Amino acid sequence: MRTKLAAGNWKMNGTGRDLGVLTELARRHTQPGCEILICPPVSLLHRAAQTVQGTSISVGGQDCHAARSGAHTGDISAEMLADAGARSVILGHSERREDHAETNAHVRDKVRAALAAGLVSIVCVGETKDQRLANETLSVVADQLAGSIPDQVTGDTLVVAYEPIWAIGTGLVPTVEQIAEVHGFIRAQLHDRFGAQTGSQIRLLYGGSVKPDNAAAIFAVPDVDGALVGGASLSADDFSPIVSALEGSA
Ligand code: PGA
Repeated sequence: MRTKLAAGNWKMNGTGRDLGVLTELARRHTQPGCEILICPPVSLLHRAAQTVQGTSISVGGQDCHAARSGAHTGDISAEMLADAGARSVILGHSERREDHAETNAHVRDKVRAALAAGLVSIVCVGETKDQRLANETLSVVADQLAGSIPDQVTGDTLVVAYEPIWAIGTGLVPTVEQIAEVHGFIRAQLHDRFGAQTGSQIRLLYGGSVKPDNAAAIFAVPDVDGALVGGASLSADDFSPIVSALEGSA
């Protein structure tokens, strides 16, 4: 049985006054039937970790450098994230791949760094609109999985998030059939590479315009073990019903 995961990605949003969202989520979900994770900007990470201490919520980072330390101005290491209270880190988000020219090889090195620091990696994959229209979705996702995930991962240290780029922040969502196809494909790829046991333990999240009104339908899709939520994770009123939908899913 895979533990379901509702993960929020605050991206470059939030200052100290937004920490109340965490308090409110913790108040509404004292004994959640799923894992709840919020990844705030790194400036808030330590305070966020303190805010959720003793609650059902954990916090994570949105990126890390592949090196443990060194002359990398403006970057943050996996060990530093862990030291600030993170349990997980999002890696290879399409905004990182695009804005910072991150390749699959970069992402793989970052996952190795996260493993060394004891962090769970949430590795993001997904196609552009053009790639979907050209029928390249599955081959793009296969390449990203093969290139971005190192051999050493396990069901406890890796989560994969399928995030079609055209669905992120746009209000567009794939059909449940499209989500089912890609999630089934990812599951099969993980089985082939890591064997049936590890392959069936790794959790698969869907991400891209998950909202309170579409969450239940998405969570009913086989092999969807939760969501990676951007915009709707910034408010407890939006994120809490998504958590509840996940708790209520079979
Ligand atoms: P969105 O972002 O929910 O705002 O579409 C999802 C993501 O980028 O993780």
